Amino acid sequence: MFSNLTVVTHPLIQHKLTKLRDKNTATRDFKALVNEIAMLMAYEATKDLPLEPVEVETPLERTTGMQVAGKKLALVPILRAGLGMVDGVIQLVPNARVGHIGLYRDEKTLEPVHYYFKIPGEEPDRLYLVLDPMLATGGSAVHAVSALKGAGAQKIRFLCLVAAPEGVRRMLEAHPDVMIFAAALDRELNAQGFILPGLGDAGDRLFGTR
Ligand code: PRP
Repeated sequence: MFSNLTVVTHPLIQHKLTKLRDKNTATRDFKALVNEIAMLMAYEATKDLPLEPVEVETPLERTTGMQVAGKKLALVPILRAGLGMVDGVIQLVPNARVGHIGLYRDEKTLEPVHYYFKIPGEEPDRLYLVLDPMLATGGSAVHAVSALKGAGAQKIRFLCLVAAPEGVRRMLEAHPDVMIFAAALDRELNAQGFILPGLGDAGDRLFGTR
């Protein structure tokens, strides 16, 4: 449906996502599930990382193996809810650098308000994975990617759990070079900008601030 969107349909992701949607899932389980899905999605979002040959000594002989080439990955959670995805992805890429972008969505205008920005040093070949469970109107995601590009980032991917068509469209218009990975493309936004069917407010459910 969208050229820049990959919906990761792996059965484990879909199973966990359904538990995440369930309003009866408690904070503790919600956190664990967000991390597990983030890890599985990062597996997909990194499947074309460049490799380079490297010599390795096995207990029996010397051989040539492969290692990921280039600068260390950077994970960039959008505060707050994106924080819930960091530990899961770090399990796959333990040496990743972590930047932070602080944004919240104004409840009336639904436009993002910026309050924090700190990312790892600019390197042209570094891959930045922006993390946020929700892509709703797309305002936060577009703003975060613009800020990253403004700081010199060139290779950016966006990982979310649920995306609304409006958000994907907005990202495609603003940043057609950014690939989006989502566990689901949901139906629509309601008048308050919540994704339907969605999973509620991910930040509140992660941090128990409902
Ligand atoms: C939520 C969510 C995204 C944003 C998505 O954050 O985590 O960052 O809204 O909406 P958008 O696509 O319409 O911009 P929220 O503003 O609730 O902040 P929080 O994570 O600190 O709770």
